[in-house]
Amino acid sequence: MTTNGSAHNMSTSSAIVLAAGKGVRMKSATPKVLHDVCGRPMIWWVLRALRDAGVTRVVVVTSPENDAAIAAVGDVIPDIEVDTVIQAEQKGTGHAVQMALKAMKAREGTILIAYGDMPVVDGPLFRSVVAACDTLTALAMVTARMPLPSNFGRVIRDGDLVQRIVEARDCNPDELLVDEMNAGIYAFDESSLRSVIGDLSTDNAQGELYLTDTIALLVARGNRVVPVVCDDPVLVLGVNDRTELAKACAAINLRLCEEYMRGGVTIVDPARTYVEPDLSIASDVVIEPNTTIGGATVIGSGTRIGPNCRIYGATIGESAQITESVVLDSSVGAHVVVGPFAHLRDGARLADDVAIGNFVEVKDSTLERGVKARHLAYLGDAEIGEGSNIGAGSITCNFDGQKKHKTKIGKRVKIGSDTMLVAPVEVGDDSMTGAGSVVTHDVAAGDRVAGVPAKSIKKAPR
Ligand code: UD1
Ligand code: MG
Repeated sequence: MTTNGSAHNMSTSSAIVLAAGKGVRMKSATPKVLHDVCGRPMIWWVLRALRDAGVTRVVVVTSPENDAAIAAVGDVIPDIEVDTVIQAEQKGTGHAVQMALKAMKAREGTILIAYGDMPVVDGPLFRSVVAACDTLTALAMVTARMPLPSNFGRVIRDGDLVQRIVEARDCNPDELLVDEMNAGIYAFDESSLRSVIGDLSTDNAQGELYLTDTIALLVARGNRVVPVVCDDPVLVLGVNDRTELAKACAAINLRLCEEYMRGGVTIVDPARTYVEPDLSIASDVVIEPNTTIGGATVIGSGTRIGPNCRIYGATIGESAQITESVVLDSSVGAHVVVGPFAHLRDGARLADDVAIGNFVEVKDSTLERGVKARHLAYLGDAEIGEGSNIGAGSITCNFDGQKKHKTKIGKRVKIGSDTMLVAPVEVGDDSMTGAGSVVTHDVAAGDRVAGVPAKSIKKAPR
């Protein structure tokens, strides 16, 4: 043992995450750690923070019911190998760690332990607790001062060291007044942990094996347990019910908004803007309030989004303007104007300079450069050529009750107000339909049609 107290193993790379609990306080059919937090399952955040801290291998303790779903979350995070160990009966956090350790090869050095219901913890906090677990120390653990009353376990100190943790339900009145809490993030010297983990007992208010009882056991054997005080109680927020879920979502959303803002994005009101991680938002994008942006969305510079937009899986070009609209799995070119009150979905592709206005729905359709559909239209399974104008109230009747059919509209076409285009149908370049036409047959280039069903009204050249 060295006296300068250097870290056990600077390249610590293993962690255990506990996620088998039922989460009864959530009152949910969905396992707690799979509840959505800013577009990702809660536990995704924990795994990603561990990865950010340099952890390369994680064992997640799961229940039989949530094992497959958790394993799937682990699979999507790069640079970290996630295995699961099933804890069939949830007999407490100490029991969960017993199961994990049994399934893992014993190693020298430090092992991180975290709870799957703490999505706000970040990589630096994990790193700092690992750094504090030096060669003189059996356990470094994160603590935080928090307002009372609190359900967190209380940290009972002996000077600078931790003596034991008492769960809130097991506290006497004096202990309940302690405002230093066990955050639930631990860097253990693995051999020390293994030496006491078998000695836990169920002699407590919940009749469970508490991981937190390892502390008194370690101290009784003359080991050092050091606190790492976290100044920001929000980072160590544990999600046990829906009120805490909302707090965690707000904290992570704010953190994400701040990242995008530091990247040059104006977010007018981060508290009323809902974002996900891994969006690509260029500088000088402006996002107005009550806007949600998620999925693999890419937004080009100078574009304004909002207020009141929902954007998911969209690619949006430069200097576009989207107000009070919904854009799902669609692409929008540069200088496009969408809204207010438009709905683009399922592969709507708008080229540059397109204008889509009030109460227009576009589905799986390509609108070439400069197409305008400004009011009250449905464009589904359509191809619309450059410069065409779709009059108010026009519809591609793409569904015959059984199958979807395509509508092809050429360049510079003027579709008159309230035209019904009964697909499959093609309308040639430079043609025109009269107001109220029901187009059931193809329209030749340059023709003008009107009526129900629409017929050519173009006089033959003399
Ligand atoms: C735990 C700590 C408490 C700390 C708090 C911080 C214990 C005994 N108490 O209390 O000191 O202040 O976290 O948030 O550790 N789990 C399992 N298997 C089980 C039981 C739980 O995997 O048998 C998992 C849960 O899914 C959860 C995590 O362990 O993700 C923590 O369990 P939870 O019941 O939320 O513990 P807390 O009461 O919050
Ligand atoms: Mg908890």
